[in-house]
Amino acid sequence: MPISGKIIPMPKLYLETVGCQMNVLDSELVVGSLRRHGYELTETTDDADVIFFNTCSVRQHAEDKIYSALGRLRNHKNKFPDAIIGVLGCMAQKDQDLIKKRAPHVDIICGTGQLAQLPTLIKDARDTGALQIALSLDRTESRHEVERSFESYDPMRDPSMRPNRFQAYVRIMIGCDKFCTYCIVPSVRGPEQSRHPEQIAAEVRQLADEGVKEITLLGQTVNSYHHGSSRLSDLLARIHDTAGIERIKFITNFPKDMTDDLLQAVRDLPKVCPYLHVPAQSGCNEILKRMKRMYTVEFYRDMLSRCREIVPDVAISSDFIVGFCGETEESFAKTCDLVGEAKFKNSFIFKYSPRPGTRGHELYDDDVPEEVKKRRNNDLLAIQNAASLQDHRRYIGQRVEVLVEGPSKNAWKLDANGPLQLTGRTRTDHIVVFDGNPRLAGQTMEIDIDDATSFTLYGKVVTGEQIAVGECCEMPVEIGERIALPLIG
Ligand code: 5AD
Ligand code: SF4
Repeated sequence: MPISGKIIPMPKLYLETVGCQMNVLDSELVVGSLRRHGYELTETTDDADVIFFNTCSVRQHAEDKIYSALGRLRNHKNKFPDAIIGVLGCMAQKDQDLIKKRAPHVDIICGTGQLAQLPTLIKDARDTGALQIALSLDRTESRHEVERSFESYDPMRDPSMRPNRFQAYVRIMIGCDKFCTYCIVPSVRGPEQSRHPEQIAAEVRQLADEGVKEITLLGQTVNSYHHGSSRLSDLLARIHDTAGIERIKFITNFPKDMTDDLLQAVRDLPKVCPYLHVPAQSGCNEILKRMKRMYTVEFYRDMLSRCREIVPDVAISSDFIVGFCGETEESFAKTCDLVGEAKFKNSFIFKYSPRPGTRGHELYDDDVPEEVKKRRNNDLLAIQNAASLQDHRRYIGQRVEVLVEGPSKNAWKLDANGPLQLTGRTRTDHIVVFDGNPRLAGQTMEIDIDDATSFTLYGKVVTGEQIAVGECCEMPVEIGERIALPLIG
């Protein structure tokens, strides 16, 4: 920006995000807000004026990663005392004292409900040189802050932070009231609160105007959504006819709240994708009880049958925690039985990580040794991988509809004269890899599936685009990698 002949460089923001889709969306909003204050993004901390970590507290490992990154920045802060370092999100909300102790060079500690205040916090940190803290004081207070943040965030979306231009997340609720005993989310994300359907519909329209084709509605327990008399099924019907939107997905579902009206909406509304992420967490009733999941494995199995009866060809995925307190070989075997039978498209499997501040941590001993957790994790993964391969092989010989996301991560490894390897997703959320022109990104294509592994379907474009050899070899493209972790639920 030239002022009196002098070029004033734009301040630079470095932002690293750990955790679930909620965090990815929060980061998008933070970047959008700071761009409007003149910031541009940078890829490294070296030249950044502001360095933010958007954090996750679901497992210890995610926190360790942030403390290591903060540790590495200690020298940086000595060298560049003007650089502002901030810890945002769940860890900030949970551990302000620990952050102060372990990383005294941090300038800002900001909870999930206060992210809209960041431009002011940066200014105050700069002006005063003092640590700035913005957190919810308790769950009741965060209720109001959440309401405010819904409002203030809407116009701040930043398309450049999305996995790609055609897919976007839309938050429809925040927080959680379920209090599963292993889970820190209700303490750090506050009480469950659903957003007004009118606001959601307006945001979906805005995203469609920007060229978004697929939206994923986000909530910790998204199928518990209710605003007045409006349930998730009503919301889906309300946004369904938004011109330009081709696909609607929603994550993450709580098994007890998988009602027939919702399943019927998935069946009857053509844009709503037949894909349901419904974490089971365990296949053993004693463990489910200790986890306070409020259902039995029999209920969960019936729910799966109901999903499959009502929604033909639905794909279902799940989450499991292995090595929760008191999990015996016998209880683990029951989880293996469930995964062996349930025909999940895929499952995310986690080793139990005790979280101070949860009921589980207070009530039970973390009595499963680490090596046993590791072994159970591997064993369950092997069972799931075999099931995923079986699920994927069903598609060989079938034609599927794929929304093309862009070049696959390995695209650069291909023969320089050959076509590019692209990746996309089916309506059932299966990953498909095929050769094509990167211009196809954002288009819906038909692909004939001819091969499959546990993780990926492979196929060929059916019609239309024939790829000229050599046409697309210079590809410095690095598309955003889809985040691996599911939203909690
Ligand atoms: N330890 C391990 N895994 C956990 N999850 C939630 N809390 C914990 C914990 N303390 C898992 C659940 C959830 C997923 C996103 O993370 O399986 O569904
Ligand atoms: Fe809520 Fe999901 Fe955590 Fe249970 S696991 S407390 S439903 S966020």
